[in-house]
Amino acid sequence: MRGAPGLYSREIQARLTCVSSHANAIDFAPLRVSVVGDLIADHYLVTEPRSLSREAPVMVLRWQSEHYQAGGAANVARNVRALGCATRLHGAVGRDARGRELIELLEGFRVDCLGVESVPSWTTPTKTRIVAAEPRRSLQQVLRVDREPAVAADAEVRARIRERLVSLAGAIDALVVSDYDYGMVDADLGALCGDLAAKGVTVVLDPRSSIQGFKGLTAMTPNIGELAQFTGRRAEDLVELRDVADAAHELLARSPMRWLLVTRGNKGMALFGEDCPAHGVVVEASGTGNITDVTGAGDTAATVFALALAAKLDAPLAMQLANAASGVVVMEQGTAVCTTEQLRSALPTSPPPVRVA
Ligand SMILES: Nc1ncnc2c1ncn2[C@@H]1O[C@H](COP(=O)(O)OP(=O)(O)OP(=O)(O)O)[C@@H](O)[C@H]1O
Ligand SMILES: [Mg+2]
Repeated sequence: MRGAPGLYSREIQARLTCVSSHANAIDFAPLRVSVVGDLIADHYLVTEPRSLSREAPVMVLRWQSEHYQAGGAANVARNVRALGCATRLHGAVGRDARGRELIELLEGFRVDCLGVESVPSWTTPTKTRIVAAEPRRSLQQVLRVDREPAVAADAEVRARIRERLVSLAGAIDALVVSDYDYGMVDADLGALCGDLAAKGVTVVLDPRSSIQGFKGLTAMTPNIGELAQFTGRRAEDLVELRDVADAAHELLARSPMRWLLVTRGNKGMALFGEDCPAHGVVVEASGTGNITDVTGAGDTAATVFALALAAKLDAPLAMQLANAASGVVVMEQGTAVCTTEQLRSALPTSPPPVRVA
């Protein structure tokens, strides 16, 4: 997917060589990281096709196994752990079987869940995916059933979570905020995030529903659909870089922050803000083109960008790392994560950032 070698200026080539030879120096493990946001239980029912039903025009599947995976902010925490950092997760689960499964899973990854509230009479957001596998064939998703809380967790629960975060200033290097529209990420959290960023914490929001109250952050990482939504545009109108740049500058003006990283699916990423030219710094998508499953790529992008900025790398290089890591996870089945080793090996062949004049 990488452009021809002659496509890049000498400066960029030199930088790329430099990045490649330093790939082994990448080590985020010393960073202290917290994650806050909406936790999701990704529940998989693995089945095998059996027959057509005689009761209704549907397939009958035979249950084989079931398991849980970490979704939403829980997947961001898992991404942080995969890069070797100590991480504490802040958020809520319902006091139900899915909530317990999720906490057990996260503790298995050694994510510190002391900041996760178990809320009585609240439902852990759960996505149950029924997947079917024929012998020697890859898994096929057949159906998804979502179990969702009707409202956000109580205001007192959210206030307690914010109180814990306030006490973290000075004790953490980075905070990743992961919004999946289940109510944890609101304007009050936005104000707190601005304060933490002002105190020197690298605060990165991966937004979904609203950015109200979020000002003065280190960065946000919307995808094209989210950028369109926050700027009153249609995603179809944000295909050309020129239009993405217009929308990005509007968002930067409305919600000042140091960098805006727009993730563009198979078009890679575009970076705007501090020290970036008006049309941004862009990077092509990374990887071999054998895309298996893009689930969780946005979580990986936000995580790696946040850790790289917290490690004081240049924002364009942080983008290159985030893009390389996302390229690793889209080539794996399910909600995958990128380890330090995988990132180190992906980096030398990952596309370099290009400043668009
Ligand atoms: N089809 C693809 N081919 C190559 N890279 C991809 C592809 N889809 C996503 N990526 C990589 O993953 C990054 C994030 O993907 P995307 O822009 O789809 O975010 P997202 O919509 O937030 O993802 P998610 O569904 O995980 O929330 C992209 O910027 C790119 O680096
Ligand atoms: Mg996303």
